[in-house]
Amino acid sequence: MNINIYKTKEELSDNLSDYVINNHLDSSIAISGGSTPLLLFKSLSTKLSSSKNLDTKFYWVDERCVPPDSEESNYKMARESLFVNNIFNSQNIYRIKGEKDPFEEVINYNKILRDNLTLDKNIPSFDLIILGLGDDGHTASLFPHEFKNLRNKEECLVATHPSSGQKRISLSEKIINNAKEVIFHVTGAGKKYVIDEIINNRGNYKSYPASYINPKSNNLSWYLDFEASEMLTK
Ligand code: 6PG
Repeated sequence: MNINIYKTKEELSDNLSDYVINNHLDSSIAISGGSTPLLLFKSLSTKLSSSKNLDTKFYWVDERCVPPDSEESNYKMARESLFVNNIFNSQNIYRIKGEKDPFEEVINYNKILRDNLTLDKNIPSFDLIILGLGDDGHTASLFPHEFKNLRNKEECLVATHPSSGQKRISLSEKIINNAKEVIFHVTGAGKKYVIDEIINNRGNYKSYPASYINPKSNNLSWYLDFEASEMLTK
């Protein structure tokens, strides 16, 4: 496990975007939503602003079951900050259709993954998955309250947000752990305790879905800003 700590979230995004550009422009990448990735997306699209129709294949770690123009849509955030000026070939952007019935879209997205990704032990394998982390230890849309019942799912699944009840489509633990490389991209003091528990296997770590992200490739990295890493450096 590699832990990379940067003074600020801006410095983190600058370094992580360099890493993605130098190592993964030909990759199949699953990206997360929420607020953390925005700086990374903007850094990537700024550095690649003179490129056109790059072949990078993009998928989502999870999506809220809302229309693509909803303020809650992970796709909307990426479309406005990363997929700008035809930098990437739009044919290679595989969005989860949040506007569809969740139980239909999960079947559709599983087929997209199986048709477009290499299979490793009959499970689709991403080249890179970039995950966020909630302060309750969730990652993707794998939430503690229902995680135990979802662990046997192969690829994509339908999840439920614990407080809003909002349906989500999410990659499963199994497909995340089948990736060639997994990166946790986490910033802010609000995550420092959960990061410490997960990385040091203490406190409530066993109840956190993020604790079960251990890719069999052993290629797992954390990209943290100083605030998020504060407990680790004590
Ligand atoms: C989502 C994300 C989710 C996110 C964490 C962290 O759809 O919300 O995929 O797993 O990564 O909740 O969210 P922040 O980046 O907003 O802290």
